[in-house]
Amino acid sequence: MREMFGGACIISIVSVLLLYNKVQSEDAISSSLDEPEVEVAREGRELDEANTRIKLLEAKLSELEARLPRANSFPETKFRTYRDRKRILVTGGAGFVGSHLVDTLMLDGHQVFVADNYFTGTRRNIEQWIGHENFEMVHHDIVNPLYLEVDEIYHLASPASPPHYMYNPVKTIKTNTVGTVNMLGLAKRTKARILIASTSEVYGDPEVHPQPESYWGNVNPIGPRACYDEGKRVAETLAYAYHKQSGVDVRVARIFNTYGPRMHANDGRVVSNFVIQALENKPITIYGSGEQTRSFQYVSDLVAGLVALMKSDYTQPVNIGNPEERSINSFAALIRDLVPGSGSRIVHKPAVEDDPQRRRPDISTARRELGWAPSVSIEKGLAKTIEYFRKELGRSDNSEKHNGDATEYVL
Ligand SMILES: NC(=O)c1ccc[n+]([C@@H]2O[C@H](COP(=O)([O-])OP(=O)(O)OC[C@H]3O[C@@H](n4cnc5c(N)ncnc54)[C@H](O)[C@@H]3O)[C@@H](O)[C@H]2O)c1
Repeated sequence: MREMFGGACIISIVSVLLLYNKVQSEDAISSSLDEPEVEVAREGRELDEANTRIKLLEAKLSELEARLPRANSFPETKFRTYRDRKRILVTGGAGFVGSHLVDTLMLDGHQVFVADNYFTGTRRNIEQWIGHENFEMVHHDIVNPLYLEVDEIYHLASPASPPHYMYNPVKTIKTNTVGTVNMLGLAKRTKARILIASTSEVYGDPEVHPQPESYWGNVNPIGPRACYDEGKRVAETLAYAYHKQSGVDVRVARIFNTYGPRMHANDGRVVSNFVIQALENKPITIYGSGEQTRSFQYVSDLVAGLVALMKSDYTQPVNIGNPEERSINSFAALIRDLVPGSGSRIVHKPAVEDDPQRRRPDISTARRELGWAPSVSIEKGLAKTIEYFRKELGRSDNSEKHNGDATEYVL
């Protein structure tokens, strides 16, 4: 609507300009033939004034054009014919990981549907594609069935950070169980291949280190994280039940901690918390001793892993993460060092319940079966993320595009 209105505005301004120009020049010619010199001088002044007004109108026109949605300025996408262009559904595609996956699939020339209820995702994350002929956004809660015709489903819809999934634990369980049944049902009906975004949280607080896919985990079924951990474990169980019982073509990615641009500023995850605290010169807060370890992967590495898994013939769960392990203390110091001029102190607060002490993926399956391994160094990935949050914190106007173009964050 906005585009149509904007377009109509520009067309009318251009028509007025042309008409005005024509009338002015015709008047100028006819009167310069008939009138004495004084009259010619007066008309010259009028012509100058008219030209000034035209220049003003032209400036206004350029300003209006600049404010129009970037209808025709999409990045170049690969051309595919109907034979090899897939119809791909990304649930949770307006979220952090989903939006980067959407960028990759769109650039690769596929037709992409996003289904999202905007609980933690935003339209801004995917606004770079709104209006593109291969893109469609469906405002939908996956706890309800969805009827679409698709070839592949990346099922990512679920809150992912502890404050978000603990906000409404029952809804988190429904999203991961009922929602996953709905998506597996859709895959069954349409014979689509479906990739379930599972998590390293299925390993709970692991007693085996690093964690291979064969490890069954150590999860507290009634703890505060259980709504998410057990929800994802059931999602995996459902995937293999549909696979065995109905032949649904499933892929399961066990995703380890991921960071990058478009993370929620207030999702309470380690990287976004530390980066924002360092940028705002506030104390960097570590829960517990800080000796607990994590391994973080940059988001474009994860997206490459998900796409490779979807393409592969491997149906068992696959860990997708970066095996480089660091203590939370060393992460805090690194982030502060990467934010020039940050005077943030590092402070410790009491540990949170059921916080895993060690987390590091064994990625030999991904290397062997997908030929995949992460390639982005922590310094490079953090620099990109810090740059994003710096822009985001400095944003003061809704019209500013904060989430960058589709290729900007691929490292
Ligand atoms: N980011 C990580 O470090 C990480 C780690 C392990 C697993 N994962 C998994 O990857 C997926 C994406 O995570 P993320 O970090 O992008 O999280 P996110 O919160 O940014 O994105 C999740 C998206 O799902 C949508 N959503 C939530 N409930 C929904 C529902 N009922 N119906 C429709 N949409 C719904 C949200 O609005 C959001 O857009 C999640 O399944 C998460 O469990 C992420």
